[in-house]
Amino acid sequence: MVVYQVYPRSFQDSNGDGIGDLAGITQRLEYLEWLGVDALWLNPTFPSADADWGYDVVDYYGVHPDLGTLDDLDELVAAAGRRGIRVLLDLVPGHTSLRHPWFRERPDRYVWADADDGPPNAWLSASAAPAWTRDDATGRWYQHTFRPEQPDLNWWSEEVRDEFDRILAFWFERGIAGFRIDAAARVVKSRDLAAAPVGPWSRPPPDLEQVHEVLRRWRRVADRYGDRLLLGQTWIEDTGGLGAFLGNGDELQLVQPFTLPVAQFYASVLHEVVAEVETSLGGRDAAVWQASSHDAIRFPTRWGACDERRTRAALVLLLGLRGTVVLYYGDELGMEQVHLPAAVARDHWGRDGCRTPMQWADCAGGGFTDAGVTAWLPCGDLQVNVEGQRGDPASTLALCRSLIALRRELPDLRDGAYRRLDAPPGVWACSRGDGVAVVANLSGAVVSLSGIEGIVRLATERTRAGEAVAGALRLEPWEAVVLAA
Ligand code: GLC
Ligand code: CA
Repeated sequence: MVVYQVYPRSFQDSNGDGIGDLAGITQRLEYLEWLGVDALWLNPTFPSADADWGYDVVDYYGVHPDLGTLDDLDELVAAAGRRGIRVLLDLVPGHTSLRHPWFRERPDRYVWADADDGPPNAWLSASAAPAWTRDDATGRWYQHTFRPEQPDLNWWSEEVRDEFDRILAFWFERGIAGFRIDAAARVVKSRDLAAAPVGPWSRPPPDLEQVHEVLRRWRRVADRYGDRLLLGQTWIEDTGGLGAFLGNGDELQLVQPFTLPVAQFYASVLHEVVAEVETSLGGRDAAVWQASSHDAIRFPTRWGACDERRTRAALVLLLGLRGTVVLYYGDELGMEQVHLPAAVARDHWGRDGCRTPMQWADCAGGGFTDAGVTAWLPCGDLQVNVEGQRGDPASTLALCRSLIALRRELPDLRDGAYRRLDAPPGVWACSRGDGVAVVANLSGAVVSLSGIEGIVRLATERTRAGEAVAGALRLEPWEAVVLAA
């Protein structure tokens, strides 16, 4: 499966206010169908206080007014369905906004502790400050794994568990195909304030037994609606094994480790990252791979170093992995990270440069919004755009589209077992199932491999398509190929 991740504020503005919206995504479905993706994952669409742009929810049953209405969401889901594209929402169960009415009206839904001098323990939040803030109104400390504006929900509360069952059911009934679940592996935090944090960040540790209990509960709700998907964001260090979060087929269906978006672009490193995930899944085909995200530097900048050859090789590698691949909007064009001056920054954590408007065309507004309108974040280099690449068979967009089509055509490329192949240093080489091999030269030198056979089905250098390889394969710097028997 190929999932296309849309940051809704930045994809397409339909009403000229400079902010992307749901009706805008509906307008662009034709493009997404042409590209060939199976599903859309929308970053949070709920009303939010925008301290973390959607990840601080004030109402789990609604749509952010900047993005449109519930009707617009229904319309998007229906229109996508007609094109064979399923829609996943981004569920944020770990915390709400401080401005969620529950915080005052239902304080028992949050995690509180009493302490006189300073925070109740040494746990840290994602910003490396104490994971506790004193509430002026009550003098008590509330827990927050992320920002102080994002108080952690108390998942030991039956009321919270029941409420989320209703939230899931509400969206499933509206036709949502499933959820990407934010920080799924840590949803229930330990109640033991003396517990040691897990992983490098000293964040509030999860209570894994209870996490599994909650995942099973969500799965039971999902299963009541038939073919629905729970794709959970999970970190390996939380866990000692991603496979644990699949349960006995009764927890998450897919796990999303966050390892590629922070890995370096060396064949040896990437082989290790992939092997670690493959091993921890014990052969199960449940990994979700992505190279860019709304939290990381876009891969054409991080890996590609602004060299299109490197970006193209990375796309072959990525779309040659086993399982589910997520393309973050613009990845298919080789859209780069945008360097933004501090004066226009909107995110506390400096992630704006990967969240700039989708580059549709080289014109004022970039095809994202109307000419003359100031977009909520400035556009990047508009010479990289859909309109310019769509008709050009040599473009990165065309390569990406061919890779997606080839994944559909060759089941081995999609689901075939991954096995690392012997190759010279700097070369990524793996076989997929019995019949497919993916080879990418991630070095600036010409390389030769032996023992490789098959027909080149797709290559970054288009003239190689159709070439028969019988033993020896020579690749130019940053050249990549997919071979099939
Ligand atoms: C996840 C999201 C990130 C967000 C955080 C807090 O890590 O990917 O964007 O800031 O959760 O909800
Ligand atoms: Ca708009």
